[in-house]
Amino acid sequence: MAEKFKISNLDLYYGDFHALKNINMSIASNEITAFIGPSGCGKSTFLKSLNRMNDLVEGCKITGSVLLDGEDIYNGMDVNILRKRVGMVFQKPNPFPMSIYDNIAYGPRTHGIRSKAKLDEIVEKSLRDAAIWDEVKDRLKKSALGMSGGQQQRLCIARALAVNPEVILMDEPTSALDPISTSKIEDLVIELKKQYTIIMVTHNMQQAVRVSDKTVFFLLGEVIESGETERLFSVPQDKRTEDYITGRFG
Ligand SMILES: Nc1ncnc2c1ncn2[C@@H]1O[C@H](COP(=O)(O)OP(=O)(O)O)[C@@H](O)[C@H]1O
Ligand SMILES: [Mg+2]
Repeated sequence: MAEKFKISNLDLYYGDFHALKNINMSIASNEITAFIGPSGCGKSTFLKSLNRMNDLVEGCKITGSVLLDGEDIYNGMDVNILRKRVGMVFQKPNPFPMSIYDNIAYGPRTHGIRSKAKLDEIVEKSLRDAAIWDEVKDRLKKSALGMSGGQQQRLCIARALAVNPEVILMDEPTSALDPISTSKIEDLVIELKKQYTIIMVTHNMQQAVRVSDKTVFFLLGEVIESGETERLFSVPQDKRTEDYITGRFG
């Protein structure tokens, strides 16, 4: 498997608080990597450091390197290009207050695509790839805010796909959803890994087992253990991983 991200000696501070401690990790292309660990252990912080969302946080300092296809994202990479290559989906669906169509067309328009035919094509393809086209194709001009939570989250995934990213970061994408919507998103994520590299934070260990190829276990800002999901959950090598996955804490 090709290596998509290579993270070396990454430390992150929020002011004096040392939130990520010497993270070293490779993330393979076209796989699903799950980040697990108790609340506050740094999963979201690390996820955001992969497309420089922490740049916006005052007092946040990062050292070490994050290579994307061998290029250092913190050294000489245009952040707009980075965020086009590495898209993000958040915990709470956050559609823009505009039509379903315009939500998807927004990103491509920002990147200079003006042709209606081209935009129509991107909107349809993105919605199809996010497994929501059939549900919305007759109401593309309606507000996205009228959709259910599960539909809104698939819309947000479609919006991320519309700019043709290479990686999709997902931060607990199903935690605000009902079981049926959750299962739809899980099926979708498995389908998407054929074309994209996916990194997903989840507090649901069954979800990590169901969908991910690799799992990384975080505790207090450190990576305790990582590897093949099946192996990590069946034969954890660290006592702390074992305690966490057997529900003894967290
Ligand atoms: N913007 C911030 N400023 C200061 N501290 C933060 C900020 N964001 C997160 N933290 C702290 O960093 C730690 C890791 O947080 P986070 O990455 O959100 O954890 P997780 O996603 O695993 O629940 C927590 O102690 C949290 O309070
Ligand atoms: Mg989080």
